[in-house]
Amino acid sequence: SRSMHMHRQDVKKDWSDHALWWEKKKTWLLKTHWTLDKYGIQADARLLFTPQHKLLRLQLPNMKHMRVKVNFSDRVFKAVSDICKTFNIRHPEELSLLRKPRDPKKKKKKLEEAEEEALELEGPLLTPGSGSIYSSPGLYSKTMTPTYDSRDGSPLSPTTAWFGDSPLSEGNPSILAVSQPISSPDILVKMYKPQSLLDKAKINQGWLDSSRSLMEQDVKENEVLLLRFKYHSFFDLNPKYDAIRVNQLYEQAKWAILLEEIECTEEEMMMFAALQYHINKLSIMSSDNHMNNSEKEVDEVDAALSDLEITLEGGKTSNTMGDITSIPELADYMKVFKFIVFGLISLNYREEAHGTPAHQMNLRGCEVTPDVNISGQKFNIKLLIPVADGMNEIWLRCDAEKQYAQWMAACRLASKGKTMADSSYNLEVQNILSFLKMQHMNPDPQIIEPITTDINPECLVSPRYLKKYKNKQISARILEAHQNVAQMSLIEAKMRFIQAWQSLPEFGITHFLAKFQGGKKDELIGITYNRLIRMDASTGDAIKTWRFSNMKQWNVNWEIKMVTVEFADEPSLAFICAEVDCKVVHEFIGGYIFLSTRAKDQNESLDEEMFYKLTSGWV
Ligand SMILES: *[C@@H]1O[C@H](CO)[C@@H](O)[C@H](O)[C@H]1NC(C)=O
Ligand SMILES: *[C@@H]1O[C@H](CO)[C@@H](O)[C@H](O)[C@H]1NC(C)=O
Ligand SMILES: *[C@@H]1O[C@H](CO)[C@@H](O)[C@H](O)[C@H]1NC(C)=O
Ligand SMILES: *[C@@H]1O[C@H](CO)[C@@H](O)[C@H](O)[C@H]1NC(C)=O
Repeated sequence: SRSMHMHRQDVKKDWSDHALWWEKKKTWLLKTHWTLDKYGIQADARLLFTPQHKLLRLQLPNMKHMRVKVNFSDRVFKAVSDICKTFNIRHPEELSLLRKPRDPKKKKKKLEEAEEEALELEGPLLTPGSGSIYSSPGLYSKTMTPTYDSRDGSPLSPTTAWFGDSPLSEGNPSILAVSQPISSPDILVKMYKPQSLLDKAKINQGWLDSSRSLMEQDVKENEVLLLRFKYHSFFDLNPKYDAIRVNQLYEQAKWAILLEEIECTEEEMMMFAALQYHINKLSIMSSDNHMNNSEKEVDEVDAALSDLEITLEGGKTSNTMGDITSIPELADYMKVFKFIVFGLISLNYREEAHGTPAHQMNLRGCEVTPDVNISGQKFNIKLLIPVADGMNEIWLRCDAEKQYAQWMAACRLASKGKTMADSSYNLEVQNILSFLKMQHMNPDPQIIEPITTDINPECLVSPRYLKKYKNKQISARILEAHQNVAQMSLIEAKMRFIQAWQSLPEFGITHFLAKFQGGKKDELIGITYNRLIRMDASTGDAIKTWRFSNMKQWNVNWEIKMVTVEFADEPSLAFICAEVDCKVVHEFIGGYIFLSTRAKDQNESLDEEMFYKLTSGWV
C-alpha cells in the first residue's frame, strides 16, 4: 500500500517540517504509521505535501503587527501557548486567537486587503516553539522564582532583560513591554469601532476553536490574526514576573476604552486619559535612559507590589482580617428609590436575622452596577436581583464616598455569595475609594501644570469626547485629573489602569447572539467569569442571570445548535447559538469554569486535559 513517507530519496532538502494535508476533508495526515487506506483515502484524493509551519501576521493587544511562524497543524491551544512562551507571557490559557473583524461600513473588501498588504510589521520574524526570545536565563520561570542575574545574583530589572542580548533588540526592543503613545489621531479615527452590542457579538464569532489546528479552520498563510486576552480572569497578575503581560493587558484595556468597546462615564474617561498621559510620559523617559535605572525600577516594582494588592477575581488575596468568627454586617438607613420600600436595609447573610430590618434581600447572583457622578455628588448603586421570573430592580442612594464604597464592596461580595468576613472585603473598599479618588477634580488650580503641547488629547480620549468638547478643554481636564496620578510609578499606573478597567460595569462580558425559547427579538447571551446573562440586545439590560456556581451540567445539541445548562435549584436554561459556532460559546463556558476552579483552589499547574474536558462538555 502507499506509504506516507514521500520524498524519502531527497536527502538534500530538509523535509522534516512537511506533512500531508488532505484538502477535501480539511485534515492533516499526521499519523505516519497509518497507511493511506486506513485514512480512507482513495486514488483520486488530492493531497498536499506542505510545511506545517507557516507565516502569520499577528496583531498583538497593543495593535502592533509581528510576523510569526506558527505550526499550522498544532491545536490552536498549543500554538497560542508556544507564541506566549516566546513573548514571555505567563498563563497562555487566558489568551487566544481571533479573526480580524470586518468593518461593515467598509464595503470594499479589496480596500481592506490592500490595507493589510501595507501593514507595518515590527520586529524580526519569530518562530515560537524554538525557545524564548529572551535568552537571559531565569527570566521566565514556571516555578515563580524572581528574575535574578545568573552571574552575580543581583535582581534583574525587567528592562535589562528586554533590552539585553535578545534577538529582539536588533529590531524594535520595546514593542512588547513598553507602551508606545498613539502617534496620530488618524489611527484612532480609521479603526473599526463596534457601535452596538450586536456588533460586539459579531466580533466574538471570530474566536478560533482551541482544539483544532489553524489549517483546519481555513486560516491562510500570511493572514492577520489577533492575539487577545480571551478570558477576563487573570491568574496571579504580578508586576514582578509579568512586565510584558501587564503591558499587553494595559494596551488591550486602553484600546477597548478608546474604541468605545466598553462604556465608561466622562469622569472615568478623563481618569483613563490622565493615566495614559502619565504612562506615555514615563515610558518615553524610561526608554531614553533604560540602561541607567535598573535598580530604581526594581524598587518601583517592589513598591508597587506592596501598595497594590490585586483583587482581580482569581488573584491572590491576603488574609488581612485574620480569623473571623462572627460575620460583620452593614446596616444603614439607606434611601432606596425606584422601589416601594424605604427603611433599614441590611445585608445579612445568616439564616436567622438579629434585629428587624424593614427589608432583607438575598443578593446572591445579583447584578451590581454603579451610577456615580463625583462632581455631582451622586453615588447610586443599581441592583438587579434574580427572582423566579426575571430580575427585580433596586436602587440604593449613598450620601458619600465612604458609605458608597462600603456598600458597593458588600454588594459585590454578596453577589458572589461571599460575606463581608471574606478577606477581600477591606481590599475591595480600598480599591473603590482609590478608584473614586483618581477621578477627583483638583480644587487648587495653582498646581496645575501649564498646558503643554505634548498632551495630544485626540489620542487620549474616545472620539465621542472629541466631538463634545474643544481640544483645549479636554487637555485642561486631563491635566487636572493627572494631579491625582502624577506620583505613580510606571508599573503602578498600568496596574491601576487595569484595575479601573475591571471596575467598569461591562467589564468581562463576552456577548453572543442567541435565541431563547419564547423570545421573539434577537437577544444576547453574555458570558462572564462567573455567570451567564440573558440580555436585551438593544439596551444591554440583564433579563436574567445564572451563576456557574449553581450549575450542575451543560450539554450541546450540535445538530440544532442548542446549549442547555442545568442548575441545582432553578429551571434549566436553553438557548440556540445564532450565527456563532456553538463550539465557541461552549469553550467560553468551559474555559471560565476551569479558570474559576483554578482560582478558587489557587492551583498554579495547568492541567491541559482538564481544560479540554471542560471545553468539550464534561463538568
Ligand atoms: C507541529 O504540530 C504537530 C501536531 O501537533 C506535531 O506533530 C509536530 O511535531 C509539530 N511540528 C514541530 C516542528 O513542532
Ligand atoms: C546615569 O546615572 C548617573 C548617576 O546616577 C548619571 O551621572 C549619568 O549621567 C546617567 N547616565 C545617563 C545616560 O542618564
Ligand atoms: C455630573 O454632575 C455635574 C455637576 O452637577 C454636572 O454638571 C454634569 O453634567 C454631570 N455629568 C453627568 C454625566 O451627568
Ligand atoms: C493542582 O492540580 C493538579 C492537576 O489538576 C493536581 O494534581 C494537584 O494535586 C493540584 N495541586 C493542589 C495544590 O491542589
